[in-house]
Amino acid sequence: MGQVTLTDVRKVFGAFTALEGLNIDIAEGEFVALLGPSGCGKSTTLRMLAGLDFPTAGTISIGGRVVNDVPPGKRDIAMVFQSYALYPHMTVAENIAYPLKKRGMPKAERTAAVQKAAATLQLEPLLDRKPRQLSGGQQQRVALGRALVREPKVFLLDEPLSNLDAKLRSYMRAELIELHRRIGKTMVYVTHDQLEAMTMADRIAVMHGGRLQQFDTPAAVYDRPANRFVAGFIGTPSMNLVEGAVRDGTFVFAGQALPLPKDRFGDVPEGPAVLGLRPEDIRLEQGPLQGTLRLVENSGHEQIVTVEVPGGTRLLVRAEAGRPLSMGQSATLAVETARLHLFAPGETGARLGRDPGGAVVEMAPRQSGGAS
Ligand SMILES: Nc1ncnc2c1ncn2[C@@H]1O[C@H](COP(=O)(O)OP(=O)(O)O)[C@@H](O)[C@H]1O
Ligand SMILES: [Mg+2]
Repeated sequence: MGQVTLTDVRKVFGAFTALEGLNIDIAEGEFVALLGPSGCGKSTTLRMLAGLDFPTAGTISIGGRVVNDVPPGKRDIAMVFQSYALYPHMTVAENIAYPLKKRGMPKAERTAAVQKAAATLQLEPLLDRKPRQLSGGQQQRVALGRALVREPKVFLLDEPLSNLDAKLRSYMRAELIELHRRIGKTMVYVTHDQLEAMTMADRIAVMHGGRLQQFDTPAAVYDRPANRFVAGFIGTPSMNLVEGAVRDGTFVFAGQALPLPKDRFGDVPEGPAVLGLRPEDIRLEQGPLQGTLRLVENSGHEQIVTVEVPGGTRLLVRAEAGRPLSMGQSATLAVETARLHLFAPGETGARLGRDPGGAVVEMAPRQSGGAS
């Protein structure tokens, strides 16, 4: 019913290719986030699912039916925009009822549907208000209510929480997760915020430069990023990415040599590569790397430490709160080698080596799509 499939989708605006080779398969009831930096093609993808824009090539199907030529109103979808797009002169109840009225639904049925949506979203006390008498979060709930009453197969949401302040955003995140759990409908959720995608989605489609970089669960994109772009985009603070080379079973950079576990990286050919280390996978303990603490940022529950290693490379390290650390202090670094990553050179250099645990040999090609 609510499966969504994009097959070899391409979108060109004049001379500009906005999307290329897009293949995404979303299951009924799944919550999928389209995640990527501004301009990577997220909204264009969503607009094509909604029927507000059309692919230059490829097919889009919803519920097993190709919808390339089906107008928005006949696609069984509902879209929620960042701007809410509420009618200012209508009350909350009228705003929510609007799509049903347009559809010609009789008044009594309409009222019942509005009541049901209002109960789901806790909007009952606000039904007689105008949008300007509502907070941002309440307006967002009205926009959701207007989508809900249509009982679509698929919800399409484009950065719906971007206009809210941080506290309200985290509250609405929880509300949306809960809503999805209750109604069980397919949701395609566009965001540039990796935390939103990580916390809300069943699977994340990471996009960059109009191409899909990886489509997998939050745990998989975090633990096994498919390429250097995904590695750097997912996680806060970002993964440390260090240019260097594989030589004699070690990763060599700025005169230091970090031993590479043979079971994972024994098959990686010698030559230029990029090392990936998450801040929590480096410890300020006895270890193979030497450095100087350049910055200590204490957030109360942890400290983020910038460590400069010889040659000038700076690494971010997570340390526990309360540990006495000061700028200028020298330190050695231990690395959780089981959680280290290697990538081919280039902006979207592919993941190299085997995954931890080692069963699956996944030798990625040295050159990937956007490698420069
Ligand atoms: N109607 C259009 N005409 C020309 N270029 C467009 C149009 N719509 C989007 N683009 C371009 O396509 C790229 C992707 O846009 P968009 O899908 O809005 O990105 P995102 O939502 O990921 O920020 C951007 O470079 C944008 O400028
Ligand atoms: Mg957008």
